[in-house]
Formats: sequence, structure tokens, C-alpha cells
Amino acid sequence: MELADVARRRKMVRSFSTEPVPAHVLDHVLDLACRAPSAGNTGGWDAVVLAGPDETAPFWDATTTADWRARSRRWAGLSRAPVVVALFVDPDAYRARYAEPDKDGPDGELGGVDGEWPVPYWFVDGGFAVMVMLLAATDAGLGACFLGNFRGEAALRGALGVPDDRRYVGAVLMGEPTGDDPPSPSLARGRRRASEVVHRGGW
Ligand SMILES: Cc1cc2nc3c(=O)[nH]c(=O)nc-3n(C[C@H](O)[C@H](O)[C@H](O)COP(=O)(O)O)c2cc1C
Repeated sequence: MELADVARRRKMVRSFSTEPVPAHVLDHVLDLACRAPSAGNTGGWDAVVLAGPDETAPFWDATTTADWRARSRRWAGLSRAPVVVALFVDPDAYRARYAEPDKDGPDGELGGVDGEWPVPYWFVDGGFAVMVMLLAATDAGLGACFLGNFRGEAALRGALGVPDDRRYVGAVLMGEPTGDDPPSPSLARGRRRASEVVHRGGW
């Protein structure tokens, strides 16, 4: 598929069949995500790949409540996703990388070790990796959805054995779309167009 077609076709899919994602397709999506840009080439993210209901159940237990599951129109479709990729980032890896001479010396950029990080690069990197996964999944004919980090970060780390110093970015769900998602209320806002967001030559 052409890149423009992939970008246009990509949308959040919130209802999946239970059909497993072939291992070679999943590996391809994850390999491409490793091509994402990374601040200082730190590559400070890790993906915990959960495949099949036995592995995905602890993810849902940690990140949703029984009350939400009972009320959500999306729960049935989301919970069937055969693959959940939970993405974690390592802030200390970025602090260490930006303390190296090429970053912290006179020619360096940020001095992000003792100073503030106006933008936490670990979350920027996480977002880039997620975006590549979403595009690669679309290109492979899969449906995919990113779920943000609203609750359960510590519980999720515990359930998946993730070290305490890692931050949870969110999860990419992948699988075959069933095509019957309840429409997201967010879509009613419409998408801002280039003519609305682009400021040429200044704000
Ligand atoms: C940072 C971020 C967090 C998001 N969190 C959720 C989420 O928790 N649940 C969900 O259903 N969609 C989530 N979305 C998806 C957005 O609602 C969606 O991208 C937006 O409505 C535009 O729709 P589209 O991606 O299908 O074009 C998230 C998207 C981003 C970028």
C-alpha cells in the first residue's frame, strides 16, 4: 500500500475478532516499530506482547474496572483483541544518554540531566513507536487501536513483571476488525484540516 493510502485508511479499530495475528505479521509490525525515530538514538522503550486471552486478561484486569466493563459499549469488541502490545519507556535511559559527552558537552543539546526536560523525550519516542505500529498494522491489513494510560499503571507493571522505574505509555491492540465498532464520540468533532492548523510564516 502507498504511504498516503495507509495514512488515510488508518483509524482506531475498537472491535476485533478472536482470530490470532500470524506470528510473521506481528514480528514485521514490531520490527518496523524499531525503525521509529528515537531521541539520541536511545531506543528506551520496551514492548510487552500479549497474545491470546490467557495473556491479555491480566492487561484488562489491571487497566479497567468491573464497573467500566459492565457499562462500556466497547468492552466486548476490545476484549476480543488477539494481541495487546503494552508499551513501556525508561526515563533513566534518556537521562543517561543525555549525560553522555556528545549531548552534555558544549556541542550538546539539552543538558537534560540536572535540568528540566521541557518535553519528556521518552514519551515522544513512545508515541513515534506507537505510530509506526499503527501504520504497519494498517498496511498489513489488520485493525489496530491505541489505548492511552488512564489507570492501572502500577498494577500493570506488577502483573507483567515490568521494572518499577518504567513508565507505561499505553497499549496497541491489533487483530482482525469486525467492522461493528460503536462510533467514537470523538469523531463527531471532525478532524482539523491543514487550512486550520497550519500557520505559514508565523502564528
Ligand atoms: C494519546 C492518545 C490516547 C488515546 N486514548 C484512547 C483510549 O484510551 N481509548 C480509545 O478508544 N481511543 C483512544 N485514542 C484514540 C483517539 O480517540 C482517536 O485517535 C481519535 O478520536 C481520532 O480517530 P482515528 O484515530 O480513528 O482517526 C487515543 C489517541 C491518542 C493519540
